[in-house]
Amino acid sequence: MSETPTSQANPRILIVGNAGQLGRELEKIFLGVGPIVAVDRESVDLADAEQTRELVRRAAPDIILNAAAYTAVDRAESERDLAYAINEQAPRILAEEALQRNALLVHYSTDYIFDGGNSTPWIESDAPHPLNVYGASKLAGERAVENAGGKFLTFRTSWVYGPHGNNFLLTMLRLARERDRLSIVDDQIGGPTTSIELARATHAIVTGILAGRFGAPEDWTGLYHVTCGGSVSWFGFAQAIFARAAQLLTTKPPGLTPIATKDYPTPAARPRYSVLSNAKLRARFGIELSPWESALEETLQALRNAG
Ligand SMILES: NC(=O)c1ccc[n+]([C@@H]2O[C@H](COP(=O)([O-])OP(=O)(O)OC[C@H]3O[C@@H](n4cnc5c(N)ncnc54)[C@H](OP(=O)(O)O)[C@@H]3O)[C@@H](O)[C@H]2O)c1
Repeated sequence: MSETPTSQANPRILIVGNAGQLGRELEKIFLGVGPIVAVDRESVDLADAEQTRELVRRAAPDIILNAAAYTAVDRAESERDLAYAINEQAPRILAEEALQRNALLVHYSTDYIFDGGNSTPWIESDAPHPLNVYGASKLAGERAVENAGGKFLTFRTSWVYGPHGNNFLLTMLRLARERDRLSIVDDQIGGPTTSIELARATHAIVTGILAGRFGAPEDWTGLYHVTCGGSVSWFGFAQAIFARAAQLLTTKPPGLTPIATKDYPTPAARPRYSVLSNAKLRARFGIELSPWESALEETLQALRNAG
């Protein structure tokens, strides 16, 4: 657990899951907003209800940013109870404790709560219908947060990646070193979103709320889609990565073959089309994330800078 000194003047911020892709970026960008208590799995096991409750009571936050989740989509099919403990029970406890303290809970969910049957971007009021255990556990978490009855923001996002962690971009760069040719699914369409852009949007909204720019909690509490602009298939995303990543590769980019989902069987089914409309976010907060192409470029630049 890392902790900065407390000052009564500033809101106390608890960041849960600070070792994850998003958690790392949140910890960086919220520096200076208020004293931060940031915890990873080493200090608190979110599958343990008592530890989770005790964490909030000890940290006594005004704002909780929950970046932790069980995100292993395929493994969740065989670890249902664990996925629900982290994706439903833990957010429920965080939301209950937030209510007790009149704190704001910021929580994150996924495009995988939808079944992919649309052909235009999904809006918040569209009916969820998850195809896999991960999506179902995240949907249960959304509902638990809302049902607790406190101040909350649930940000549904998609295809998250960044300069650290387990993600498609870093997997592509690793595979490029190991193989001459890669087969990539071309019939799943989504919105790649960087951890950097997601943290930036979270920061803009939370600091706007703290500054009183968005009105009273009843004016902004709720569920929002928050993704980078545009959409692409995994195959198109891989093409874009290799078109821009030459400097990060020691060999020439691998050849890419587009394949169908049915030719790449996985334990968990995935939605065919999971692009999320950000219209509600724009209308309510006046915020728009970068298009996925420029966000990709920014992340590649961060990797180049890191050497
Ligand atoms: N990644 C995506 O493509 C994607 C897409 C849509 C939505 N989202 C949502 O966006 C949010 C952020 O995702 P992300 O990509 O940043 O996830 P991530 O990189 O997998 O980070 C999740 C963090 O949660 C921690 N965690 C897992 N189980 C825990 C436990 N029992 N106790 C304490 N910590 C635990 C993980 O620790 P370990 O590293 O030790 O496991 C990890 O640091 C999540 O709500 C996720 O569902 C992600």
